[in-house]
Amino acid sequence: MAKVLQPENLPEGTRYWPGFFDRAAQEALVETIRALVMESPLFTPRMPRTGTPMSVRMTNCGALGWVTDRERGYRYQPTHPETGKPWPPMPAVLDDLWQAVVPDAPPPQACLINFYNAQARMSLHQDRDEQDFSAPVVSVSLGDECLYRLGGLERNSPTRSFRLKSGDVFVLGGAGRLMFHGVDRIYPGTSDLLKNGGRINLTLRRVTHP
Ligand code: SIN
Ligand code: FE2
Repeated sequence: MAKVLQPENLPEGTRYWPGFFDRAAQEALVETIRALVMESPLFTPRMPRTGTPMSVRMTNCGALGWVTDRERGYRYQPTHPETGKPWPPMPAVLDDLWQAVVPDAPPPQACLINFYNAQARMSLHQDRDEQDFSAPVVSVSLGDECLYRLGGLERNSPTRSFRLKSGDVFVLGGAGRLMFHGVDRIYPGTSDLLKNGGRINLTLRRVTHP
């Protein structure tokens, strides 16, 4: 059984707001994301060197977007890898979220939009492609619940897992900024927010030194 992560047993540097977005706000956010995806379509990221496709599909908004492919690996760039167009601007609702949860951090430059179907997963990793780790990573869950795994600062550190639900906001910052994390599985049918099911994760990041 996945434990519910309670405010009193959060590791240092992490913060958790269950239900930060209410249903109406979640619906509005999904509409915003739909419009972004029309302009900046989901693409299939590929692992560096092997070219193995990841199971999530992704796109970005903001000045910079996170991409990966066989030839050039993990990086940030200002344009969509397939259309060559600049990423759509960061919507105000996401700037507002950042301001509300990490008011002291310089403004976010990138929002990675990950779409998980029922089979998608994300293996344990650190977010470390940014030049600057002083700003937190702010993440939003929408749609089906997932089993989120949180480790420590080493790949072999002990891990714990808990369910993230639609509307939840989770932050990795400070001593927790480089904690390993991943998504073990999606629980299909746990939300009716997305018409065809699945989960969206938004990850807001500061990339360069302010
Ligand atoms: C990620 O670490 O890129 C995604 C985390 C999540 O889907 O909650
Ligand atoms: Fe991550």
